[in-house]
Amino acid sequence: MTNVEQTATVPFDHLSLVIDSSFRHSDFVILSIGVYSWLMRILVTGGAGFIGSHLVEKLLAAGHKVAILDDFNDFYDPQVKRDNIAAVSKDTAIHHVDLRDSAAARNVFHREKFETIVHLAARAGVRPSIQYPQLYYDTNVSGTLHLLDAARVTGVERFIFASSSSVYGISKTVPFSEDQHLTQTLSPYAATKIAGEFLCSTFSHLYQMRVVALRYFTVYGPRQRPDLAIHQFTRRIYAGQPIDQFGDGTTRRDYTYIDDVIQGTMAALDYDGSPFDIFNLGESETIQLKDLIAAIEKALGKKAKLNRLPEQPGDMPLTCADISKARKLLGYNPATPFRDGLPRFIDWFLRMTHRQL
Ligand SMILES: NC(=O)c1ccc[n+]([C@@H]2O[C@H](COP(=O)([O-])OP(=O)(O)OC[C@H]3O[C@@H](n4cnc5c(N)ncnc54)[C@H](O)[C@@H]3O)[C@@H](O)[C@H]2O)c1
Repeated sequence: MTNVEQTATVPFDHLSLVIDSSFRHSDFVILSIGVYSWLMRILVTGGAGFIGSHLVEKLLAAGHKVAILDDFNDFYDPQVKRDNIAAVSKDTAIHHVDLRDSAAARNVFHREKFETIVHLAARAGVRPSIQYPQLYYDTNVSGTLHLLDAARVTGVERFIFASSSSVYGISKTVPFSEDQHLTQTLSPYAATKIAGEFLCSTFSHLYQMRVVALRYFTVYGPRQRPDLAIHQFTRRIYAGQPIDQFGDGTTRRDYTYIDDVIQGTMAALDYDGSPFDIFNLGESETIQLKDLIAAIEKALGKKAKLNRLPEQPGDMPLTCADISKARKLLGYNPATPFRDGLPRFIDWFLRMTHRQL
C-alpha cells in the first residue's frame, strides 16, 4: 500500500490519533507513517512482563497509542515488572486489572477504545502449571475468554494471541509446523494455550474478528523471566550455586531472541491473510541443554556445579520451529542466532547485577 492510499483510507479517528501523537513525537510520527499501514490504539495485556515490556517500547517508538493491562502478580517479583515499564509509564495508560475478573476486564474497554489487542498476559511456565492447574486454567483460558468477549462487544478489529511451542506436546515430526494435527499436550500450561487458540479461532469464525495466534519458542534476552532456564542458570552459576540439570542434558530447545519475537509480533499487526491464522515464531535452530550450560559457563568464565536430576514430567524432549510460513506470510526474519544472542543476554545480566550491588 502506498502512502497516498493509506491517507485516503484512514478514518477520522485514526487521523486524529496521528495528530495527537504528533504533538509528542512530531518528527518520528511523520517518519513512521510511511513504515506502518496506520497508527492504532493498542492494548497490550501482560505489558509489564518480559515480552510485553519490549513490545510496548517498540509500539510506542512506532507512534502507536498504547495501554497496558497487567495484574503485577507475584509469579516473580512484581518490582521487576514495575522496573520493566518504568521508562514508558508516562507514555501509556496502565490498567492494574486481573483478567480472571470478567467485570474488571470489561470495564477497561468502557474507559478506552482499542483497535487491536495483543494478549500476552498469562501464567507462564510448564512446571508450576502441574502444581496449580486451576490457576492456569482460570488465567489462561477464562482470562482469554473474558478478553475475547470484551473485544467482541466493543468491536476490536484485531486480536493477537501469545501461544506457545508447548502445544506441540509429544510431536515427533520435526521441525514443528503449524498444520500438524496435535493430539497430546504434556502439561496443563500447554493445554491452556491450545484451548486459547481454539477460543480465538471460534471467536474469529463467529464474529469476523481477525485473530493471529503466535506460537513463541522459548524466548530469551534482556529482562527474561527469572524462572526460565537461561536466566536461572546464569544467576546461579554467577553466584557459585548449583544448578538443577533435569535428564542427561540431551534435551533440545529452539531459543528465540527477544528482538526476533518482537519483529514477528509487530508484523502480525499488519497481517491481512486468513481471518484466523497461526504462526510459529522460533529461530529454527536447536541447542542441547548441556551445550547451553557450557555456553553460559564460557560467557561467565565460571564452572557450573551440576545437580543431576531425573527428567521432569511435563517437559518436552525437543522443540524446533518450522518458520517457513511466518517468513512467507508475515515477513518474519529472525536475525539473532543463539551464538550472538546469548552474549547479549549475559551482558545485560552482568550490567543489571552490578547495578544492584
Ligand atoms: N517467554 C517465553 O519463552 C514464552 C514462550 C512461549 C509463550 N510465551 C507466552 O508469551 C506471553 C508472555 O510471556 P512472558 O515470558 O513475557 O511472561 P511474563 O510472566 O513475564 O509476562 C506475563 C505478564 O502477564 C501478567 N499476568 C499474568 N496473569 C495475569 C492476570 N490474571 N491478569 C492480568 N495480567 C496477568 C503478569 O503479571 C506478567 O506481567 C505469555 O502468554 C506466555 O505464555 C512465552
